[in-house]
Amino acid sequence: MHLLIVLSAIVYASVDIVQGANVFHKCCPNNHSLMKVFDDESFNFSSYKCLDRESAWNDYNITITPLFVGKNLSVEDGIPETCDDVPIEEVTVLDFDSPLQVFNGCHDRLVAELYNGTVKTVPPSIIGLKSCVKKEDNKTSEDNLIIHKYRKCCPRGQSYDSNFHLCRESEVNNSEEWLLKRLKMNDNDIYEVDTGLDCAADEYGLELRQRFFSLRTDGSTLKIFSKKGDGSGDADEGQWCVDREFSSSELVARVCSSNCTQYGAFCVRKCCPIGYHYNLKSSGSFDVKCLLNEDDVLFNISHYTKPLLHENPEITDIMGFRIGMQCSSGYEMLNQSVERDQHHLKPDGSLSSPSWIGGGYCFEAFTCDNRSCPDGNTFITAVKCYESPANELKFQISFVFLAISNVFLALTLLVYISVPELRNLHGRNIISHVSMMLLAYCCLARAKHSYVADNTVCTLIGYGMYFGFMAAFAWLNVMCFDIWWKFGSLISVQPVRKASSELRRFLWYSLYAWGITILFTVVMLILDKYPVSDYLDANMGKDYCWFGSPPNSQEDWPHYIFFVIPMGLEISINFVLWVLTARYCAKVKSEMQRFQTGSVDNSVKKRFIADRAMYMLTGKLWILMGVSWIFEILATTISRPWWFWAGVNAINELQGLSIFIILVMKPKVYHLIKKTLPSWMKPGAQEDGTSPSATMLTTFQSQSSSMGEQTNTQPSLQNYAKQS
Ligand SMILES: *[C@@H]1O[C@H](CO)[C@@H](O)[C@H](O)[C@H]1NC(C)=O
Ligand SMILES: *[C@@H]1O[C@H](CO)[C@@H](O)[C@H](O)[C@H]1NC(C)=O
Ligand SMILES: *[C@@H]1O[C@H](CO)[C@@H](O)[C@H](O)[C@H]1NC(C)=O
Ligand SMILES: *[C@@H]1O[C@H](CO)[C@@H](O)[C@H](O)[C@H]1NC(C)=O
Ligand SMILES: *[C@@H]1O[C@H](CO)[C@@H](O)[C@H](O)[C@H]1NC(C)=O
Ligand SMILES: *[C@@H]1O[C@H](CO)[C@@H](O)[C@H](O)[C@H]1NC(C)=O
Ligand SMILES: *[C@@H]1O[C@H](CO)[C@@H](O)[C@H](O)[C@H]1NC(C)=O
Ligand SMILES: *[C@@H]1O[C@H](CO)[C@@H](O)[C@H](O)[C@H]1NC(C)=O
Ligand SMILES: *[C@@H]1O[C@H](CO)[C@@H](O)[C@H](O)[C@H]1NC(C)=O
Ligand SMILES: *[C@@H]1O[C@H](CO)[C@@H](O)[C@H](O)[C@H]1NC(C)=O
Ligand SMILES: *[C@@H]1O[C@H](CO)[C@@H](O)[C@H](O)[C@H]1NC(C)=O
Repeated sequence: MHLLIVLSAIVYASVDIVQGANVFHKCCPNNHSLMKVFDDESFNFSSYKCLDRESAWNDYNITITPLFVGKNLSVEDGIPETCDDVPIEEVTVLDFDSPLQVFNGCHDRLVAELYNGTVKTVPPSIIGLKSCVKKEDNKTSEDNLIIHKYRKCCPRGQSYDSNFHLCRESEVNNSEEWLLKRLKMNDNDIYEVDTGLDCAADEYGLELRQRFFSLRTDGSTLKIFSKKGDGSGDADEGQWCVDREFSSSELVARVCSSNCTQYGAFCVRKCCPIGYHYNLKSSGSFDVKCLLNEDDVLFNISHYTKPLLHENPEITDIMGFRIGMQCSSGYEMLNQSVERDQHHLKPDGSLSSPSWIGGGYCFEAFTCDNRSCPDGNTFITAVKCYESPANELKFQISFVFLAISNVFLALTLLVYISVPELRNLHGRNIISHVSMMLLAYCCLARAKHSYVADNTVCTLIGYGMYFGFMAAFAWLNVMCFDIWWKFGSLISVQPVRKASSELRRFLWYSLYAWGITILFTVVMLILDKYPVSDYLDANMGKDYCWFGSPPNSQEDWPHYIFFVIPMGLEISINFVLWVLTARYCAKVKSEMQRFQTGSVDNSVKKRFIADRAMYMLTGKLWILMGVSWIFEILATTISRPWWFWAGVNAINELQGLSIFIILVMKPKVYHLIKKTLPSWMKPGAQEDGTSPSATMLTTFQSQSSSMGEQTNTQPSLQNYAKQS
């Protein structure tokens, strides 16, 4: 027995020398693959057998694919025998495109297992079976044998239809041999061909047709060159498959890529894998389980793509499909017959409907129970993630709150603009601040009202909001600085406040506030238009009418760099100024108490009272803005409990009302408004004097100067005024 094996090895070797051609020691004959056979009692591995394609299909109802061996290779088959019950050593070949390891034994493709009389397929792999007999002769020409790995897109007997994006049964010759021949198989190499292609979840399967691309292979890599000259690249093994076109004899490749622009593809999402579809139940709901097509269920999206062809006839020449979409709370089918669901595709691959726009959708073909689809056997529509009505309600409440805010902001603005006494330096700062808040809140309200279909409008809203908030914060910064400056000057030189010097200060303030806002906005705009880094690319208006990155994500950097951090700095500066001012304030107060009545100039005292009121007011505004900033940060890290956020959002959204209460709802302002109104509009002009609040007001008024603001929540201040 041993002698026989040795002899046969010698015979093998001599054959090699005689023929001079490359010999491939294949375990099984051509068209056969390896099958592992487990013995019946213990199911321990025992031996290998060969299985040919036809009998696998006919006898066991499985499809297997053998290795394809180049014509110039002579195949010598035979499975090594075991010696003395030592199992055959099995080695797995993992390196494609590099010379096969040489040993005394054979290589082949393992495709199935025979297990207690039943055959089942296993994920195919190339294995080597090592003979226990050492090879005597070193002479072998096997050492430059190379195995390449390709994929055929469709199962045996099917071709790929790139018009309807599925595999279809076809009578023409679409065998692996045909494909290998078309791909200019090297007659000295060996080819392993797998079936199907699965792209990563975030990749698109791009359909590259031979009409537009030249497809060449280099080892297991597909080399792609655009015939239009605008896109070429390589697809590595496992990232591409190729098949015959259903309607022509050309080739079509499907290539996994996350970059649709690389080959100029028009990319959309498909809910189910290629060759699967959804079923619509009679009840009108659908099962999110994808069903395998039994007959051809054409994925015919020309209804959606046709309107795009008017502008760019070539836009859908190359299509790409990303499979699947993850929704946390279910899926919702859009019904083209319902007005709020009517949707169409946009040239950038996003979908637009009256209530919604974006990339968060997928197309799918539906079959219907009992074949009762509205038109025909199947229909195609878009599916999106289910949004609970509660979400919509939340948006509506937000919008109402924001609208209320805007009304009150506008009222505040109106009061400060129309009352001449309020148009001093401090008043002008407030006007600037409030008008920018109004701008930001108007944009915010529009964004919350309903989906903004137009990308340009959405971008404008985003920038409006950004500019508004940045400027409002900058003006608050100015106010804090102003009050600090005033107290500082009160202590030191006590200059007379002249209108001209106030105007000059206001100009400087404006230069600072508008300057810094415009600087930030323009820098962000430029980096948005000409991105240099993902960290700095705001993507304003891409998915939201705000920074394009989803909140609380890795890509949230631009939001932090351009918004959260600058705001944080300004808020911190304001806090420092506020604390410094508090110190000044206490100092002034104690000094004024030391110099008793008479020695202190009455005007200084009045000024102190007014400035202190202004100081308190600035502090309140600071708290209001600071709180909303802190929540802006918290909101990106925590999301529960919901009632807490509902409350916080309500406070934020009603900020306009808070500002109105702080700035306008004060006896003094009320009085000034009344003074400003034309006489016929004055409410109850005759009773004016008798009204208790009015008498209180006038006495109050006489105590304070008309310079600054007086809040009605300052009992200590009133005491102080009475004391001194
Ligand atoms: C292998 O199968 C192909 C067709 O599938 C056939 O043309 C060829 O002759 C077969 N080769 C052998 C060795 O049986
Ligand atoms: C088969 O497997 C069993 C345990 O699974 C083991 O005890 C036995 O030795 C094995 N037989 C052979 C021949 O490897
Ligand atoms: C072959 O297997 C498929 C599933 O793999 C099954 O649907 C089909 O009925 C089987 N055919 C036969 C003849 O057993
Ligand atoms: C295959 O062999 C033939 C002759 O046997 C030879 O003409 C041809 O060049 C060889 N092909 C390759 C790719 O080596
Ligand atoms: C093997 O298959 C036969 C029938 O096909 C069955 O009776 C037997 O129980 C199976 N053995 C084991 C261990 O599963
Ligand atoms: C085979 O060749 C290697 C070097 O390539 C050598 O080390 C070895 O001894 C040779 N074996 C025999 C059996 O000639
Ligand atoms: C299909 O084409 C290949 C290569 O051209 C050829 O080898 C094979 O015999 C053909 N098969 C059929 C069924 O025509
Ligand atoms: C996509 O491909 C295009 C063209 O090759 C290239 O300019 C662009 O940078 C790529 N984009 C990404 C995200 O890789
Ligand atoms: C695909 O859809 C378009 C538009 O809806 C229709 O005109 C065309 O006939 C459809 N094609 C097939 C093969 O059903
Ligand atoms: C779409 O809506 C119309 C009108 O409400 C209805 O008749 C039709 O059945 C719906 N289609 C689907 C597929 O649910
Ligand atoms: C659809 O078929 C089911 C059974 O398959 C039946 O109970 C139901 O009444 C049918 N519905 C319609 C609208 O025909």
